Amino acid sequence: MKTKLFVDKNLKIGPISDRLFGSFIEHLGRAVYTGIYEPGHSLADKDGFRSDVIDLIKKLNVPIVRYPGGNFLSGYNWEDGIGPKNDRPTRLDYAWQTIEDNQFGTDEFMKWCQKANIEPMMAVNLGTGTPKDAGNIVEYCNFPQGTHYSDLRIKNGSKQPYNVKYWCLGNEMDGPWQIGHLSAQDYAKKALETAKIMRWVDPSLKLIACGSSGAEMPTYPDWDRIVLETLYDQVDYISMHRYYWFQDTLENFFASYKDMDDFIHTIRATADFVKAKKRSKKTMKISFDEWNVWYLNEWKPAGWQKAPHILEDQYSLKDALVFSGMLNTLVNNADRVEIAALAQLVNVIAPIFTKENGGVFKQTIFYPFYAVSNYGRGEALRCIKTGPTFDSKYGATAYVSESVSFNETKREIAVFLVNYAKEAMDIELELRSFGAIHALDHLLLHHDNLDIKNTFEHEHVKFTKGALPLIKDALAELKLEPLSYHVLRFKY
Ligand code: AHR
Repeated sequence: MKTKLFVDKNLKIGPISDRLFGSFIEHLGRAVYTGIYEPGHSLADKDGFRSDVIDLIKKLNVPIVRYPGGNFLSGYNWEDGIGPKNDRPTRLDYAWQTIEDNQFGTDEFMKWCQKANIEPMMAVNLGTGTPKDAGNIVEYCNFPQGTHYSDLRIKNGSKQPYNVKYWCLGNEMDGPWQIGHLSAQDYAKKALETAKIMRWVDPSLKLIACGSSGAEMPTYPDWDRIVLETLYDQVDYISMHRYYWFQDTLENFFASYKDMDDFIHTIRATADFVKAKKRSKKTMKISFDEWNVWYLNEWKPAGWQKAPHILEDQYSLKDALVFSGMLNTLVNNADRVEIAALAQLVNVIAPIFTKENGGVFKQTIFYPFYAVSNYGRGEALRCIKTGPTFDSKYGATAYVSESVSFNETKREIAVFLVNYAKEAMDIELELRSFGAIHALDHLLLHHDNLDIKNTFEHEHVKFTKGALPLIKDALAELKLEPLSYHVLRFKY
């Protein structure tokens, strides 16, 4: 089998926003407690933040993290998580049916972000919360001083405002599972009033409206249209969420990257429809603020405990291949998707996995995220691809998923390829528009066992060095192993 990729420097999709490599920490399972925060751990700093986890997050080069949820958000009173720790209430979290003792809250998150070089992205509760509660938390975080909530922040130890720019107006409000679920009309109304208050407190905010929680939602894409018809002028982004898991055939699972692309195209079209209807000059951007492989059919409540072992998916090579295709889809839509959040970052459906009082390991999905986040920044290019396809429930899908970017300052090209075929694939990569090129590196993710997973003891799936492509007159040729992921870097 052979796939040809024609790449031209002028066929630009657009600049890749750094925020495309964001992630997400929710008060869920062990994401916070024994994930990023474990006072008493031998590697915890004086604030209780695990330094081994921060080190890995820095390796992933994550620029922005969404917090505090997720479904948890819709039952959360942010005021429970501030002030002296002994005075903070212990509550039932209805979303995941766990106990939340609020020992980690807004101020701890801000401090952790500063240490991990991360920009905070906050979400306000539009399930059980009110528009006024949302105004209050913006006042707490961003108002300089001299008011009730800004002075409370100062009393709690932060003289300087946090100046949080990105705010989500609720979470998955289209989902019947959401605490305080609303119809599209009711959500739009509530979000509009909330946005007005939040912007009165801080006019510089960037606001994200809840879009559909997935393409399988019965309200999709009407939800997005109705929400945008009301909120178009008040918000800067519409959110998208999507999870895939192996359900029936490998073909259907591998075609997830195509379905995700179709989903993005529908939301773009829906937003553009509203833009036309409103005669607006503004183009609505997308915040794809939850995406991953997640075996969500396997989640069961663990009873009312603090930080239970829930949603601790262990990822195989197969999952990492699907994950890599999803990353390619995000890059290939870089002109619209300006923010994305890998859901999530630590322990809960995450690339980083910790043991309480113990070590940490990198899941299989760590590697593709690491590669694209570190080497894929710059300008995204649209490829012209010819090659074999396979049938799936999402339609004909190319065996090779690709994304290409280049960085004019470093004069580097990065090519990310997934081969979903069970046999080797010849690749012909045309890079003539860059002039003379030479190959810098070839990182390869491959194992004979598609179901193999990493553990604390063995990192079975990790990057190895692949053979450098053969370059003849700016035509790079190489063979991809069956069921494999490749990162190729060139200098021009
Ligand atoms: O990331 C796990 C959950 O998935 C989030 O809490 C929710 O927003 C989504 O359904």
